[in-house]
Amino acid sequence: MYRDFLPFLEEWFKRFEIRGFKEPVDYGKSEDISFNEITSVFDEFCERMEQNYPFHSPFYAGQMLKPPHPVAWMAYSMAMSVNPNNHALDGGPPTSKMEKEVVRELASMFGYAKPSLGHLTTSGTIANLEALWVSGKIHPGKKILFADTAHYTHSRMCEVLGIEYESVKTDELDKISVEDLYTKLDDAGTLVVTMGTTGRGVVENLHIILPICKEAGIRIHVDAAYGGFFKLIEDDLTTKKAWKSIHNADSIVVDPHKHGLQPYGCGCVLFKDPKVGSFYKHDSPYTYFSSDELHLGEISLECSRAGAAAAALWFTLRVFKLDRHGKLSNGLRKCIQAAESFAQLIHKDEDFEVVNEPELDIVCYYVKSKKISDITKRSKKIFSAGINPNSEKAIYLSLYTLPVNKFPLIKETEIDADTVTVLRSVFMKPEHKEVIQSIFDKIKSINKEISNE
Ligand SMILES: Cc1ncc(COP(=O)(O)O)c(C=O)c1O
Repeated sequence: MYRDFLPFLEEWFKRFEIRGFKEPVDYGKSEDISFNEITSVFDEFCERMEQNYPFHSPFYAGQMLKPPHPVAWMAYSMAMSVNPNNHALDGGPPTSKMEKEVVRELASMFGYAKPSLGHLTTSGTIANLEALWVSGKIHPGKKILFADTAHYTHSRMCEVLGIEYESVKTDELDKISVEDLYTKLDDAGTLVVTMGTTGRGVVENLHIILPICKEAGIRIHVDAAYGGFFKLIEDDLTTKKAWKSIHNADSIVVDPHKHGLQPYGCGCVLFKDPKVGSFYKHDSPYTYFSSDELHLGEISLECSRAGAAAAALWFTLRVFKLDRHGKLSNGLRKCIQAAESFAQLIHKDEDFEVVNEPELDIVCYYVKSKKISDITKRSKKIFSAGINPNSEKAIYLSLYTLPVNKFPLIKETEIDADTVTVLRSVFMKPEHKEVIQSIFDKIKSINKEISNE
């Protein structure tokens, strides 16, 4: 499908020339570099890149990897040939404008009224870093709390920022234990609430947690790096009450490079109160000259950022629209349906069981066994056996380790370990829906082969 978009690239370069731009360097004719040299490196490059797992295949249902839509790839490639830098308007006026537009759209998707503040970032990690940094400025000397299931980067970012942190226990469904939260409120300034955990795709009960924190004067930062776009289809979700309260959060992170069809290099941080922009205040003797309008570098911690990332997202959102009946929403619905169908197939099967009902498009599951350690061994064997590019049975999964006290034990399982490793599948491509039976059949067949060994 990417190839279908090549004519647009051709056309882009034609128009580019007509408007007086030259391609950056005339590589083809340069004396320093020959096409022969490029060809041999190209061959090596192709060989190396073939060693990737087949991320585009619907039979890749492992990590949180979603190929960018061709529209995003095309827009990124076109904009990248100009190489704008969205740090300052001096570096990329049109792509900075596009960034402001898409950030506004993302903010209204979450129900943030105008004006709010936000910008794109290189990743979810950096977006979260900025939100935690602002939290530290607003509540200096106070702790940042996050669940023990929060993305591992939160503790690392607190260390980078020199902010004390503490983790809050979660229950067997991986949701924040309100009981434990109450014991930690006193010296806390902010609670991170994850809407779509990386491990089991769990959505926190934001609607329950929010009033508790508001009463205690604690800020709420929502990490929706993975889950954020599901806000669009909240009415179809079992967690809709939580999603409907997200506009009350003080800050939100969402990653367009996860469910927003973008290539890597596109996160986003949003702040409900635009006044937090004052924390970013800095002066630069080199930049901010071309316009009195807001330069994105004045409200972000990163300096250079790819204007192409904003261009790609802008183009994609023009085509896909952030509304509940748009193409993006329909794709997300298919991902949810894929996960639900997969869980149903597992329920009907006598050998497998799910760890929990999927709330988004991640399913964790295992082969029922006599001992906990056998469950772990079996998960690892199926995982490894699936990675076989030369076999028709190839199926790419991932693993997830959890403490046994969070494991829904089947009565006769002997507990001979503290943790258990289960299989995990992220069905974040709409195409998964069409092949969900085949995915399950492959896993079943691998399990059968292992049982016969
Ligand atoms: C909930 C959550 N937060 C943060 C991150 C980190 O985002 P990034 O990989 O874009 O840095 C992830 C990544 O999977 C995530 O799932």
